[in-house]
Amino acid sequence: MVALGFVSLFPEMVQGFVAHGLLGKACSEGRCAVHIRSPRTYSTSRFGHVDDAPYGGGPGMVLRPEPVLAALEALKSEVAALAQARVIILSASGASFNQARATALAGQAQERGVIFICGRYEGIDARVTHFVDASLRIGDYVLQGGEAAALVVTEAITRLIPGVIGNHASLEAESFDHTGLGEYPQYTRPSVFRGLEVPSVLRSGDHERIAAWRAAQRRTLDSHDDSQCVPDAG
Ligand SMILES: C[S@@+](CC[C@H](N)C(=O)[O-])C[C@H]1O[C@@H](n2cnc3c(N)ncnc32)[C@H](O)[C@@H]1O
Repeated sequence: MVALGFVSLFPEMVQGFVAHGLLGKACSEGRCAVHIRSPRTYSTSRFGHVDDAPYGGGPGMVLRPEPVLAALEALKSEVAALAQARVIILSASGASFNQARATALAGQAQERGVIFICGRYEGIDARVTHFVDASLRIGDYVLQGGEAAALVVTEAITRLIPGVIGNHASLEAESFDHTGLGEYPQYTRPSVFRGLEVPSVLRSGDHERIAAWRAAQRRTLDSHDDSQCVPDAG
């Protein structure tokens, strides 16, 4: 059983996401458990406020440290499987998340659980970082909140946990595996689609030739012509 905790102002976002796909199946079969606490529950303000203006001035609001830490501490004290959990804060200026970190975090999730702290507004009072183990960013862009980032990390790590993916062999020869190469192209029926034919070698039944073809098709991940798929940044 892998325990995952979320400190989030939007528990429904997390609940909705984890209810689906193989992660939802793993949760319903008891291989994974998701626990969520909202800082709002722990607000000491009369109106349930959890944010305040930044010291030093500037635009926007900042999440106060007390309700965030109270939510974190509630997860650790109320959920035995999260008592020693690794705590990750999502931040646009955190360490860059990648497959190697996903693999390490998947191991830690199985040993002691993982708790994600999701920011909102202009972010979280910086003193909260004294109570976390690591700060992660999922890419070089700014999201509206940490939930989507925490769920990206959750998807990447839970699929590495035995039993979550039905066929563990699916994890072999994937993009970012030990080769550092991208995956080979995959095809399914029909063999001809809108005039585009599946390479004949894949229908040959010759496993050696298929393996050689696939190995040759894998390419370094930075060899793509990015101009084909993303708007010009210039
Ligand atoms: C609007 S953002 C705050 C951005 C912050 N003012 C800055 O300039 O970095 C609100 C929250 O979204 C999350 N977030 C935004 N971008 C992220 C990213 N690339 N990776 C991980 N979390 C991110 C963080 O939890 C952050 O506290």
